Amino acid sequence: MTLSPHSSSTIELTVELGARRYPIAIGHGLLDDGARLASAIDGRHVLIVSNDVVAPLYLDRLTAAIRRGCENVHISQWILADGEAHKTLASAARVFDALAAMKANRDATILALGGGVIGDLSGFAAACWMRGIACVQVPTTLLAMVDSSVGGKTAVDLPQGKNLVGAFHQPRAVIADIGTLATLPARELRAGFAEVVKYGALGDADFFAYLERNVDALLARDADVLAATIAHCCRQKAGIVARDETEQGERALLNFGHTFGHAIETAMGYDGLRHGEAVAVGMVLAARLSANLGRAPAVDAQRLSALLDRFGLPTAMPPGLDPDQLIDLMRLDKKNLSGTLRLILWRGIGQADIVPGIDARAIRAVLA
Ligand SMILES: NC(=O)c1ccc[n+]([C@@H]2O[C@H](COP(=O)([O-])OP(=O)(O)OC[C@H]3O[C@@H](n4cnc5c(N)ncnc54)[C@H](O)[C@@H]3O)[C@@H](O)[C@H]2O)c1
Repeated sequence: MTLSPHSSSTIELTVELGARRYPIAIGHGLLDDGARLASAIDGRHVLIVSNDVVAPLYLDRLTAAIRRGCENVHISQWILADGEAHKTLASAARVFDALAAMKANRDATILALGGGVIGDLSGFAAACWMRGIACVQVPTTLLAMVDSSVGGKTAVDLPQGKNLVGAFHQPRAVIADIGTLATLPARELRAGFAEVVKYGALGDADFFAYLERNVDALLARDADVLAATIAHCCRQKAGIVARDETEQGERALLNFGHTFGHAIETAMGYDGLRHGEAVAVGMVLAARLSANLGRAPAVDAQRLSALLDRFGLPTAMPPGLDPDQLIDLMRLDKKNLSGTLRLILWRGIGQADIVPGIDARAIRAVLA
């Protein structure tokens, strides 16, 4: 599928973190922009990390552009098997093996070409290799463009839970070529819209209404509407990350729906719902719980569910999951403090809060 005709301009944003800053570029043809890639690369070695779905589509173009942009850079690549099941310590160890084989020291950059799985794993490997080397995020899914590539959260999963081992490690640049979304399967595009809706739900009622008006254009991959939407999400995330880089407060709001969602993903062995789909269900559960606790109007939960449904996302618990197992998994979530259940709830569209000390019985009631 191709994207609709589009304006050729690139949207440029900056993530400001005190004295540190890095650019986000959103546009068409950026995979071929050798000069931009060169300016993001640090050192003499470049390891492109990708997977066996994305690499056949885009690796050659990216490699050729880096060669055009950089002189005397040693480029290697490490191609992993596709899927969340490979976001593991074992895969990170394979990336370290690849860096060692290149004889890379700190003069190396990891370039993450793929979705959030590749981005999280590559960022984690970059954070660990010799205590930290540069990572450039080249996201190729909608979810990675609007969320995981920005903000420096990196991690791998353990069988016990998602993202349990990780580090905060900001990328050196984020280069989002919207043209890559043309090959993204429809289900993955829809999963990305869950994180897009999240931005409206947690803090921006106007953006939520904009999404309600633009569902059809977005699902039709209208290039300009997609670019504007991705830029809006990145701007919102960059603002939150600038105010709270290591999630001491406000940044936790970005986890709206995620404590439920991660528990569902883990309970399903990372092999049922896509991450975005699990987040969609999780946001509806968080909205219903908020309504049950008298914190938010039930009608807003219905409006959220209706928008997610129009994006083709699931809004009900998958059958066969055990509520008690899910609550146990939720207790292991990083957002909890000393075993008590702390969730992101809302007061309605555009107003989320961190709520500690939630009674497990109230949670069980929405999971049942
Ligand atoms: N670090 C963060 O702040 C953060 C935020 C949100 C999500 N995440 C993580 O992101 C991950 C989910 O990311 P995702 O949804 O991008 O999943 P993903 O990386 O698994 O990509 C989804 C699928 O699309 C394929 N794909 C990617 N780009 C493609 C393209 N252009 N054309 C065709 N196929 C393509 C992939 O190979 C994969 O099969 C989860 O591990 C989640 O925990 C991290």
